[in-house]
Amino acid sequence: MAKKVSEAEIQKQFDYMKKISEIDFQRKYYIFTLGCKLNEADSEKLAGMMDNMGYNATDSYEDANIVIFNTCSIRENAEEKVFGKLGELKNIKEKNNMIICFCGCMAQEPHVIEKIKVSYPQVDIIFGTHNIYKFPELLLNKISSDSKKKIIDVWDIDGEIYEGLPVKRESKTQASIIIMNGCNNFCSYCIVPYVRGRERSRNPEDIIFEVQELAKDGCKEILLLGQNVNSYNPRDDYNFANLLQDLDKIDGINIIKFTSPHPKDFKDDVIDVIAKSSKISKVIHLPLQSGSSKVLKLMNRGYTKEQYLDLAKRIKQKIPDAMFTTDIIVGFPGETEEDFEDTLDVVRQMDYEQVFMFIYSVRRGTRAEKMEGHIPEEVKSERFNRLKSLSDKMTEEGMNKYVGTIQHILVEGESRTNKDVLTARTLSNKIVNFEGSKDLIGKEVDVKIVSQHVWYLKGEIVK
Ligand code: 5AD
Ligand code: SF4
Repeated sequence: MAKKVSEAEIQKQFDYMKKISEIDFQRKYYIFTLGCKLNEADSEKLAGMMDNMGYNATDSYEDANIVIFNTCSIRENAEEKVFGKLGELKNIKEKNNMIICFCGCMAQEPHVIEKIKVSYPQVDIIFGTHNIYKFPELLLNKISSDSKKKIIDVWDIDGEIYEGLPVKRESKTQASIIIMNGCNNFCSYCIVPYVRGRERSRNPEDIIFEVQELAKDGCKEILLLGQNVNSYNPRDDYNFANLLQDLDKIDGINIIKFTSPHPKDFKDDVIDVIAKSSKISKVIHLPLQSGSSKVLKLMNRGYTKEQYLDLAKRIKQKIPDAMFTTDIIVGFPGETEEDFEDTLDVVRQMDYEQVFMFIYSVRRGTRAEKMEGHIPEEVKSERFNRLKSLSDKMTEEGMNKYVGTIQHILVEGESRTNKDVLTARTLSNKIVNFEGSKDLIGKEVDVKIVSQHVWYLKGEIVK
């Protein structure tokens, strides 16, 4: 069972938060969140702590006194964005008496820390993915010292699970819940096992309690998060299927989603639980990465093209209305035209609801970095564009299928572009816009889809 941070240690952090609220007033904060939903969930915890310390969130980082970069290292472009923004802040730091904090996956990479030490003196505090809960202590140390010295606290051992720190949730009706952290798979292209450490699952009792509390508070939809959710395994007699079953029983929660599962660990017990549940989303994210068995082997994915297609078939047999979304990497070292054709072939056969596409990006220290046959940028882009046009065509055809159907959906809020229109998402994540009273926000409604537009579906309330 994963080790837990002691209650005494968490209490200490609450004491630091109180202390800060007594000495640092009227200050504003801004959090840059890059990367995946796990990082978004971590940022909700950082925001929870900031609010607890008496700081106020601001929409504009130029006004902020405390800026936190919660970073992502999955691809190079995510890293470049952060360095660009850090450069910009150098000029306003003095004016705002600003404290700049740097955390998340990039903070776990030794070469990034070196780069910051040499070239980014504006950064005040660096902490990693394993000790987010210690943020109040680090901030207090900074505030109460006159030294310009950076505070660096990054651990290369696996962090422990922690419970009980404040969370500031974006939405009252939808909540993201991290159920496990880390990854043991070491796909050869991926930096995640290096920056997030080995798999650690939260105790089911803590997750169930959290969801029960959320339900009491009006939450209707939960999204379970982990790098590899179907490896959730806090103890020998309890796994992801058990967790889904237990969460399914909680009154008030009507929609349960999860991301991401790994195809090699997607077992029949989970398929059976989804098939029986009226709450668990039938839209299943099944990251393919490549359709070529040769490339999958190089990627260390643990399945072949045939095994992947067979898994999808087994899911469809038990869950006839299952829909799939996926992640694909284009241009992995050694990928030939024939391998890429295999990927297109799987995409056609799977008829995905949505394909998230990525151009292969070399990550330092991974096995793929040292592989032969790196693909020239122009070949990668050309393949990416071909995959994109296939996926765009499928998305358009997929959207057409909704016209005339009635969708039971949770009203999220006003549309971003038109305040007179309400917006919601289908279970498969398609945006639906429709007219209706603002009182409906946070409630479930039936909407008939009347037309399909490039980015959204237009609907009319029927009930
Ligand atoms: N280059 C490109 N895409 C990557 N991903 C992970 N590592 C890399 C990389 N080095 C993609 C995978 C994964 C998604 C979250 O990001 O498709 O599923
Ligand atoms: Fe990365 Fe593979 Fe682990 Fe996913 S399963 S986080 S792609 S190593």
